[in-house]
Amino acid sequence: MLEGEEGEAISKSMELLVALGEVFDAEKLEPVDSAHISGVSYKNLGEAGTEWLEEQAKIGAKCSIKATLNPAGMDMEKWEEMNVPERFANGQRRVISAFKRMGVETTCTCTPYLIGHVPRKGSQIAWAESNAVCFSNSVIGARTNRESGPTTLASAVTGLTPYYGYRVDSHRIPQVVIEIDAQLEKRLDYSAVGYVTGKLIGNKVPYFKNLGKPDLESMKTLGAAIATSGGVALWHGEGVTAEWEWARKYIKDLEKITLEKRQLIEARDKLVCDPANPTYCIGCPHCSLKEMAETANLVKGKDLEGKLWVFTSRGVYSEAKRVGHVKIIEDAGGKVYKDTCMVVAPLHEMGWEGVATNSFKAGHYSVAHGFELELAELPDLVDGASR
Ligand code: F3S
Repeated sequence: MLEGEEGEAISKSMELLVALGEVFDAEKLEPVDSAHISGVSYKNLGEAGTEWLEEQAKIGAKCSIKATLNPAGMDMEKWEEMNVPERFANGQRRVISAFKRMGVETTCTCTPYLIGHVPRKGSQIAWAESNAVCFSNSVIGARTNRESGPTTLASAVTGLTPYYGYRVDSHRIPQVVIEIDAQLEKRLDYSAVGYVTGKLIGNKVPYFKNLGKPDLESMKTLGAAIATSGGVALWHGEGVTAEWEWARKYIKDLEKITLEKRQLIEARDKLVCDPANPTYCIGCPHCSLKEMAETANLVKGKDLEGKLWVFTSRGVYSEAKRVGHVKIIEDAGGKVYKDTCMVVAPLHEMGWEGVATNSFKAGHYSVAHGFELELAELPDLVDGASR
């Protein structure tokens, strides 16, 4: 494959994977069941990245396994309504078209695990997108490193990945115990736990005690935050995650860190200010059907005047549309977009002035992109948008 017997595209992909394996001293290449590919927004790719993808399609790169796609920089249908400039839309369409030619399912979501792309526990996968990596490693118990756009595409084409890192038992052992000394009630609490923990431990593997009973949505927001602030790819939660009982065997002599409510509040206070004219947005990571239902329930009878934006996947969108959630949100003056989010869309060019959201990950990037930020639970965001 490396020497080109199966064509140029496979040879180029193998070059990348072999180089990666050599850097990390991988003992072998390992088959993977599926890929999830990041690096899709034209905002991040620009012309150079787009041309590289077009080149891969031109030399014949084709997926040999299931491969899904991360969010793009716009709703592929409603981009004009989002105020996305035409120049950007043209670039974005070229990106999606290149991925289509390579046989990638253009799902455009960071929550493939909510729309039927659910790996088996213990299976090897090649996923990018840090929240999806965290969710699949921790909650599902599949095995992936934090892959990049090019390496996931190479794995999608070859069906292979170098065997190292979180693919191996020894790298999945917890390295630090995080004892929660706070009552975690709301999803924003879980997002804060992730954000603060990541800042404290970097990319170590944490073992959480006393996490309470997080729902799926709380676990996805925790994973997104911990991956953003610290680079964590795998966390164990006592009584919660897929491998916690196995992980518990290794925690006896580990360093222990206690996390108090005060630290969660401080982390929030450090990020936020009081934006004068924020756009209120949810869906980082992309909303589940449950979050769509909760939002629909909260906005009934309100007048949101276009100030609440909801981001989700195409799969969840069509189900939410079928059961009426989308109509309720839109009738109340909210906007529902798929394929994109408040981090990868070109918000400055779209005229946004500030961001109010319920996700530390989205909050972190909003501040990094120069926006003033408000962090609040969903009911408070709905109230703010309708004021
Ligand atoms: Fe997903 Fe965008 Fe957040 S890709 S995890 S919604 S930054």
